[in-house]
Amino acid sequence: MGLDGRSLVTVDDLSNAEIEGLFSLADEMSNLMTEQSDVCRGKIMASLFFEPSTRTRLSFEAAMHRLGGRVITAVDIGATSLAKGESIADMARVVGSYADIIVIRHPWEGAAKVVADYAGVPVINAGDGGHEHPTQTLLDLYTLVKERGTIKGLKIGLWGDLKYGRTVHSLAYALARFGATILFHPAPGLEIPEHVARKLTREYKGELKKSDAMNHAAKQGLFAVDAIYVTPTSPHQLAMMPDISFEVELEKGVDALYITRAQKERATTTEGQASDKAYPVVDRRMLKGKEFRETLVMHPLPRVDELAYDMDSDRRSKYFKQAALGVPVRMALISLLLGSKTLDVRQDSETFIRKANYPRYDRGYGVRCGNEKCVTVNEGKYIKPEFEIVSSQPLTLRCIYCDHEVFPKYVASSEWHDGTIERKRYHSANSHWARRIKPENLIVFESESEAQCYGFKPSKYAGG
Ligand code: NCD
Repeated sequence: MGLDGRSLVTVDDLSNAEIEGLFSLADEMSNLMTEQSDVCRGKIMASLFFEPSTRTRLSFEAAMHRLGGRVITAVDIGATSLAKGESIADMARVVGSYADIIVIRHPWEGAAKVVADYAGVPVINAGDGGHEHPTQTLLDLYTLVKERGTIKGLKIGLWGDLKYGRTVHSLAYALARFGATILFHPAPGLEIPEHVARKLTREYKGELKKSDAMNHAAKQGLFAVDAIYVTPTSPHQLAMMPDISFEVELEKGVDALYITRAQKERATTTEGQASDKAYPVVDRRMLKGKEFRETLVMHPLPRVDELAYDMDSDRRSKYFKQAALGVPVRMALISLLLGSKTLDVRQDSETFIRKANYPRYDRGYGVRCGNEKCVTVNEGKYIKPEFEIVSSQPLTLRCIYCDHEVFPKYVASSEWHDGTIERKRYHSANSHWARRIKPENLIVFESESEAQCYGFKPSKYAGG
């Protein structure tokens, strides 16, 4: 089985079995690093980095060079025609005609999906704003597997900026899929976004418990967490247990602590100032507790002040090794997407089924993504907003580009007013009537005046 021609836009574009297969290939490649120089000979990778990058860009480029391919690069948005007002779609079409594969980092959330939709060649998301960073997750998981042999059942702490840290979002989804327990330790005000938390429970079926354990554990001098995600297969059923059990679990040890810096470039001024004062710092003293005795200390890097330099010589620190593993992982990925290598993968029942199949809302009107950093908001000229209807109670539409959710207030059906203007009625989205509308007939509105603009009158269920 191959991944030939596919793109990696979100971490859910690969099944668990495919990720495991990719890791085996990365093992093979790192053992025989110098013997890979024919794997992608004659192929060209375009490396487009429109946000700062050291590791991701250089490890992608090193990976392609190791595979015997060539690299073309654009790193400054101001030096490309995007600065002249060219659309991402046009840029993607053109670069796709020059290169066999594209790696893109862009500040807008969902930009990598647009490139993948238009380029006609495989596209790899190297970070789209605060949304996702799936290849960082691949090397994070690879590090965990190398150090611990498995991910299932591990307890992983996520530390710092859980709001804007895209690495954390992709990693949380993947950890949930592989059956790890996640302990959230955000900086104040930088908690995991609601839409990410909801995706964790909705898609991967685990439980997210806002934790009173935080206070308890803190009082006991243990690692304080503000929420815990437990997978459905977890043997400990942590979320069901009283706080005392959490402490017992914690004392058995945290397997890894994944630290992130404050993503100041994405934060509001107030959030930035708040995090300057209260951002939690990891150092040897903090890691003295017995729950951290064998904890792997990980960080996607770059570090700023959140991880003390005194940790560099500590045997638990793995962040530089983690960064180094980016090369074999990216070599494996590039060679698979280019079809230069194939995978021997059995899609068994344990395998995550790629992307849940939600009904779509793609009328292109009545709703827009509320995330100002979403590519659909910034390139509205040609991108039609499109949503997955992930819940009817409350009615929840999730943007297919950036995963942010909108909760329309009013709805109508395209079926009930077949030509009869009198029957063109709108209802409140939380009325029982609204629930009878089939997804394929659903029309949504942000406001009553919008519904009226489209010629709808209020039904007796429009009052909420
Ligand atoms: C991360 C990123 O760009 O999101 N860095 C990386 O790719 N290794 C993390 C960060 O910038 O903090």
